[in-house]
Amino acid sequence: MTGGQRFAGRSVLVTGGASGIGRAAALALAREGALVTIGDLDAEGGRAVVAEITASGGQALFQRTDATAEGDIAALIAAAVAAHGPLAHAFNNVGLSRHGGMEDMSREDWDWTLAVSLTSTFLCMKHELPVMAARGGGAIVNTASMSGRIVTPVASPAYCAAKAGVVHLTAYAAHSHAARGIRVNSVSPGLVATPVVARMLTPEQQVTVASGAQLIGRAVTPEEVAATVLFLLSDDAAMITGTDTEVCGGRRQG
Ligand SMILES: NC(=O)c1ccc[n+]([C@@H]2O[C@H](COP(=O)([O-])OP(=O)(O)OC[C@H]3O[C@@H](n4cnc5c(N)ncnc54)[C@H](O)[C@@H]3O)[C@@H](O)[C@H]2O)c1
Repeated sequence: MTGGQRFAGRSVLVTGGASGIGRAAALALAREGALVTIGDLDAEGGRAVVAEITASGGQALFQRTDATAEGDIAALIAAAVAAHGPLAHAFNNVGLSRHGGMEDMSREDWDWTLAVSLTSTFLCMKHELPVMAARGGGAIVNTASMSGRIVTPVASPAYCAAKAGVVHLTAYAAHSHAARGIRVNSVSPGLVATPVVARMLTPEQQVTVASGAQLIGRAVTPEEVAATVLFLLSDDAAMITGTDTEVCGGRRQG
């Protein structure tokens, strides 16, 4: 259940909004009245999401953005503010991993994974927080992962460390900016049936992997993650900050 028009007229930023979880969140935010700005490397996908939103009467803009490049992030936020007004909400969702284990992950792949999955989150918040503070407050959600909460051998050490870092960075920003009216939370999805996962696992393999790790034995849908993100961004979560919510169908291990 969504809460109607919780984001009516509000300027909302979604990074990584061209696909998967970010796309589902951008669509859901627009349905609830948000003026959505999408930043993503994938221009074709990003423009397709904007077209979907505008076709159903919503408002959105896309700007091609590398979330690991500070100049791109600053320009994206400036574009969002110019088009839609000061940011009220942001969903910092970019993250990816290159493969490897403790002994064979290259330094380059480690650095790349940390940049895409952790530094991007820092850069987004660094530039969002002053804009929200000047507005008088706001709310941020960062995408972490169950790989940052428990050790999942299928994920690389860099991805696990980066996502654990997102959870702690979230708590840090919640502490540093609570007095300025800004709430900061993260979500930790389990296995989500997004395009990146569909390229790696068949639907049958997704059920096997999900059943091994989660109490509810199926992949999470992007829309199910988005529903939690919207709750945490919305005023319904006015007294929730500094938390991480596991959206994983219940973890099997501690
Ligand atoms: N799919 C899962 O099972 C799962 C589980 C836990 C966490 N996550 C996290 O959820 C988030 C979204 O993943 P998804 O599964 O929806 O993936 P996805 O591939 O469907 O979407 C990710 C989007 O991020 C964009 N992107 C990648 N690098 C970028 C960069 N440097 N700058 C800007 N945009 C960039 C891609 O173009 C894509 O549109 C990620 O942080 C991921 O780590 C996913």
